[in-house]
Parts: sequence; C-alpha cells; structure tokens
Amino acid sequence: MAKNSLSITDNRTGKTYEVQVNDGTIRSMDLRQIKTDAEDFGLMTYDPAFLNTAACRSAITFIDGDRGILEYRGYPIEQLAEQCSFLETAYLIFNGELPNRSQLDTFVNQVTHHTYLHENIKGLIDGFRYDAHPMGILISTVAALSTFYPEAKKIKETENRRLQMIRLVAKMPTIAAFSYRHSLGLPYVYPRNDLSFAGNFLHMMKKMAEDKYQPHPTLEKAIDILFILHADHEQNCSTSAMRAVGSSEVDPYSAVAAASAALYGPLHGGANEAVLRMLRSIGSKNNVADFIAKVKGGEGSRLMGFGHRVYKNYDPRAKLIKKLADEVFDVTGKNPLLDIALELEKVALNDEYFVKRKLYPNVDFYSGLIYEAIGIPVDMFPVMFAIPRTAGWLAQWEEMALDDEQKIARPRQIYTGKRKRDFVPMAKR
Ligand code: CMC
Repeated sequence: MAKNSLSITDNRTGKTYEVQVNDGTIRSMDLRQIKTDAEDFGLMTYDPAFLNTAACRSAITFIDGDRGILEYRGYPIEQLAEQCSFLETAYLIFNGELPNRSQLDTFVNQVTHHTYLHENIKGLIDGFRYDAHPMGILISTVAALSTFYPEAKKIKETENRRLQMIRLVAKMPTIAAFSYRHSLGLPYVYPRNDLSFAGNFLHMMKKMAEDKYQPHPTLEKAIDILFILHADHEQNCSTSAMRAVGSSEVDPYSAVAAASAALYGPLHGGANEAVLRMLRSIGSKNNVADFIAKVKGGEGSRLMGFGHRVYKNYDPRAKLIKKLADEVFDVTGKNPLLDIALELEKVALNDEYFVKRKLYPNVDFYSGLIYEAIGIPVDMFPVMFAIPRTAGWLAQWEEMALDDEQKIARPRQIYTGKRKRDFVPMAKR
C-alpha cells in the first residue's frame, strides 16, 4: 500500500479502495469509483460554502490563518506594505516576481496611459440617479467596458489578455472617481499622468477649483498601502466568482463585473461600510457593552469587521491598518468613531464568546475609519476595495485560464425535490 494514500472501506459493500493523497488532499473524482453497484453514480463529497474543498492550485497568495500570515508570491504583506508601491505589488501578483527598475517603469507607464475612459462612459454614468450607490455604478460600468473592447473575448491570446489586464487596473480608479463625482453632481475630473496611481485617484476624487490638485503625501501613501493590503486574498467569495464566471471563457470585463458584485455584499467587501454604520449606530463608548451583549444574544447584527473564514488569529492586514490609522489621523485629526472601535475591540478580545470562536478584527474593522478621515464617504468603501482587488482577480483569472486542469466550473448537487410526476392541468389544481 502506497504511503501517500488513503484506504477507504465502504461499509455498504465491504469493499476497500485506495486513493492518492497529494498536498494534503484527495481528489474528489477518485471517490467516484466507490459504488454500491454498477448503476450507482458513485460517491461525491458534499461541501456547501466550500469549507474544505480546494478548487484550484494557485501560486499567488499564501495565507496561514492560524498564524496570521499573508504573503503575495512568497513576500510577507508587512514587507510589501512598507517597501513597495501598489503598482509594484500588482506587477508582482501578475508576474510572480518583483519588477526591476525598467520593468516597473514600463508597467507604470502602461497603466498610466490607460486610465482614460471612452467619453460615452460619461453618458452611461450620467444615466444613473443622483443617489445611485457607486458600487452599482462601478459594477455596471465595468461590464459595459466589454462592449468598448470586443477583442477582450479572445482570452487565449496572451498579449490581448495582458492588455485588458492593464486596462482594467488602470480604469478602475477612474470609474470609481467618476461614480463618486456623479453622486455629488460634480464635474468629472480626468486623470493626470504626473501623479502616482494613488495620487491620481485622490486628484480625480477631490479636485475642485484649484489649478493643480496636490495630494497630501501621507494620505497618498496611506491609500497606496491600503491598496496593497487589499490586492489579493486567495480564494475568497469574489475571487471564486471571478474564477467561476471566467471559467465560461467570458471576457475579463464581464468577469470583473461579476467579481465586483460578489464583493459588494456586507459579508465581504461591504463589511467596512457596515462597520462604519455599526459604529455610528453604537454612538458612544458607553453603549459598547450593551451592543456586545446584543451581538452575543443574537438580537442584533454580528460584530462587523470581526471574524474571518480563514484567519483564526489577528488578521495581519488589520494590524497594519491600525498603525496606518494613527499616521492618517495625525494629518486629518482623529476620527471620533475610533474610540468606539478601540473599546469594541478591547471588550470583544476579552469576551469568552469571541475568544472561543477565535473572532479577531479583520481588514475591514479599521479601514473605514481611515477612508472616512480622508473624506471618502461610506458608500465608496466597497469601491475602494474593488480598485486594488482587480489586480488579484485578474492574476487569479489568468492563472485559471492557463491551468490545464481547469474546466468550466460546474458543481454537483444533492437533489432534494420531488421526482417524476404528471402535469396537473390548471382546472384541476
Ligand atoms: N460577530 C459575532 N459572531 C460571529 C461573527 C461576528 N462578526 N463572525 C462569526 N461569528 C460566530 C458565528 O455566529 C458562529 O457562531 P456559532 O458557532 O455559535 O454558530 C461562529 O462565530 C462561526 O461563524 P461562521 O459564520 O461559521 O464563520 P464563517 O467562516 O462562515 O464567516 C465571516 C466568516 C467573515 C462571514 C463572519 O465572521 C462574519 O460575518 N463577520 C462579519 C462580517 C465581516 O466583517 N466580513 C468581512 C470579512 S474580511 C474581508 C473580506 O475578506 O471580505
């Protein structure tokens, strides 16, 4: 019997099977041979919400949830946040290696020269109501881009694929800023090539009557670091959506729209928006104990910004963001909600309910406080997540497209409905 194998005895038939164990997994298809008789379909695994199923092999992001480790292409997130720019990180995520000077210059130049949107896009955004959620605008506008770049559907052509990846990374901040300006009834501000990725984003968001908007270097750096921290996070809900939708071989704009939609939900990228609303509704440090009691009693909502499917320890991104918050507040003044957040964290980390379930602050717990201090409204928070995550989605999408083992995503089901019955005419129902 091979050492790297699993022996399975089917007690229904008394038969024993041997299946290979590789990388700590068995292949679900190896179970299909386990049958009660020739007619039997064969054994499947049942794993709602994919709690214990690896759907791909990936070399992009490593997470050790118990130890609170996050690495992109093997580089610890702490080192990247401290020493890299977001576009350098995006290059790393796309290509597997850090760029040298000329590779980075070329990449930055390419991204910088694809930030403009087709003028018709402005007409599309104008069609939304003044109070449309910017995430709804972003999702629709990204999907619409597929009609401007019909060649994007040729996903098997490397150069073409890479061009769309650059375009998407470059245009997301422009769409995001335009959707924000639309909600305020302000004129759209076109991108500027002399600014960094984060600096240009702030310019498109914030420029008013001044001749030349100059981003504050601390705030520009803070946005860039937040973008790095959000660039990828392996097989989360939106990335899985990107891979599943992309597996149909649709163009990447449509797939990014689907991934953005997945990100919008309050359990995923909408969580930082939910955190801010939660902090506001708590209102004061003095109400924290009551709020926590309600969460534990299942009366209120969950403690938003706490808990993670993978991290059973302090999310390393949350640690970095907490530090970043102090630097931003030195410039903007302290966000008054910080005291409530700190008290919530203190109470929760000492409460048996949260300790027992290993619930720690996640990336979203403090990020909203920074965005708000920079003057970015709550509705824009999931959009702020989508901008950098586009790099991760695209790297994962390309990895999937090049993976010979992948096919169109198509899970199985356990059918629980009624079986064959005769149609009942309307008069007899
Ligand atoms: N507040 C209170 N209780 C919680 C929370 C929370 N934030 N998170 C989990 N629990 C409880 C949950 O009720 C369950 O308790 P019990 O075992 O008694 O039924 C237990 O902890 C395990 O929770 P789960 O729902 O099985 O965990 P999950 O892995 O399915 O959910 C999660 C992960 C992130 C959806 C969840 O922790 C949550 O809803 N957190 C709040 C929303 C949030 O902050 N989301 C952002 C995630 S990080 C950004 C991203 O990657 O998108």
